[in-house]
Amino acid sequence: MQQRGQFSSRLGFILAAAGSAVGLGNIWGFPTQTASNGGAAFLLIYLALIFVLAYPVLCAELLIGRHGQSNPVASMQLICSHRSTRKAATLVGLAGMITVSGILSFYAIVAGWMIAFMGEPLALMVGAEQPANWMTSFGVGRNLLFTAIFMLFTIWVVNAGVKEGIEKWSRRLMPALLVLLLLLIGYLLTQEGAADGLKAYLVPDWSHLSPELLLKAMGQSFFSLSLGVGTMMIYGSYLSRDENLPKLAAQVTLVDTGVAVLAGMLIMPAMYVALHNGVEIFDANGALISSGDLVFQVLPALFDTMGSAGLIAATVFFLLMSIAALTSSISMLEVPVAYVAERFALPRAKAGYLVGGAIMAFSVLVIFNFGFLFGKVISITTEYAQPLIGLMFAVFTGWVWKRNRLLNELRQSNPEIEQGLFWKIWPTYVKFICPLLIGAVVLQSLM
Ligand code: TRP
Repeated sequence: MQQRGQFSSRLGFILAAAGSAVGLGNIWGFPTQTASNGGAAFLLIYLALIFVLAYPVLCAELLIGRHGQSNPVASMQLICSHRSTRKAATLVGLAGMITVSGILSFYAIVAGWMIAFMGEPLALMVGAEQPANWMTSFGVGRNLLFTAIFMLFTIWVVNAGVKEGIEKWSRRLMPALLVLLLLLIGYLLTQEGAADGLKAYLVPDWSHLSPELLLKAMGQSFFSLSLGVGTMMIYGSYLSRDENLPKLAAQVTLVDTGVAVLAGMLIMPAMYVALHNGVEIFDANGALISSGDLVFQVLPALFDTMGSAGLIAATVFFLLMSIAALTSSISMLEVPVAYVAERFALPRAKAGYLVGGAIMAFSVLVIFNFGFLFGKVISITTEYAQPLIGLMFAVFTGWVWKRNRLLNELRQSNPEIEQGLFWKIWPTYVKFICPLLIGAVVLQSLM
């Protein structure tokens, strides 16, 4: 057996877990969903779901991982005491691993676009018009090249190990990300039109409220906290036994949610500054343009109207996106790499190239069948698989894990926990409320 990695400090863990959570989901997904779903109405529902559903599930995942001190498949097995439940646990763990690989396969494509769009203003600065054009035009060649570049970065960091790769890079990149985000917000808020954007963001429009909206907000909250695929479980497994898990989970949740809310304060004003500068931001139905068009058309068009300051703003913005994507993608790749390395006793780097290469191969398949596969992979993995596997994690924590062993695992880190509210509520909560709520949201969306 090889020595298992571990985070070297509490801060290192928080930065790595927050790095996983903070990603394109926060800076792109959350603001665009907010923009097209009633502004603060979506924001409030999202916040409620984060604390009512996502946070308890995050605690469950971290706890299972830390208890198992192993990859998600093995950690899930370790909370079961019967053969039949152990089989089911294995299946759930494997399903998570396949899901996260699917998520990485499209995430790497989108992250590749971010790198390409960062290259464009740089190319323009040195007068290379043609390459600049190529990098921002949709095409198989461009997609292949930049997806591959991003995947190589991801593999390279993961192969360096938990402490020397994941933790080290999260420590470097997360503070950079925060600074860049604040700089951009500060700059944009000085521009004409920004106030209208803040208003659209912070005044709720409840006419968008619907069962669909709930599913979207739940999917977004699970995606944003990297839940339901074993990512947080594997990070939990690199934690030492004497950390106070509910508190760490709360800190990670707060950072993730804080960055999402901040990113809204960047993107929403940016849209209205763009409008003010003559860029079209409403579609034919009068709805705000969102999803892909926002980041790859509206924002570049906005930067175009800003002259040379726009070139710098564009570089900084897409650098921010690329950094956010990298600290997330490494947490995705870690799940299958840890499994393959531990299950088949392979050296970590070998597992990294094997698994990373296989996921890249799938990305290539998606790139060549983009119209057919891209949306489907996203919808299956994030809207259905993630919440449902998250539900299974809650069910296993509440129903399969022997109650006294679960409580022991909780108590281990801080014996005083028995006096607190978390202790009284959470075990029952994950047992009944989480599965019911998640199940209800998924079911009503299917009907
Ligand atoms: N949470 C990240 C984001 O918001 C993405 C992410 C990282 C993720 N690991 C994950 C999503 C695991 C789902 C599952 O962009």
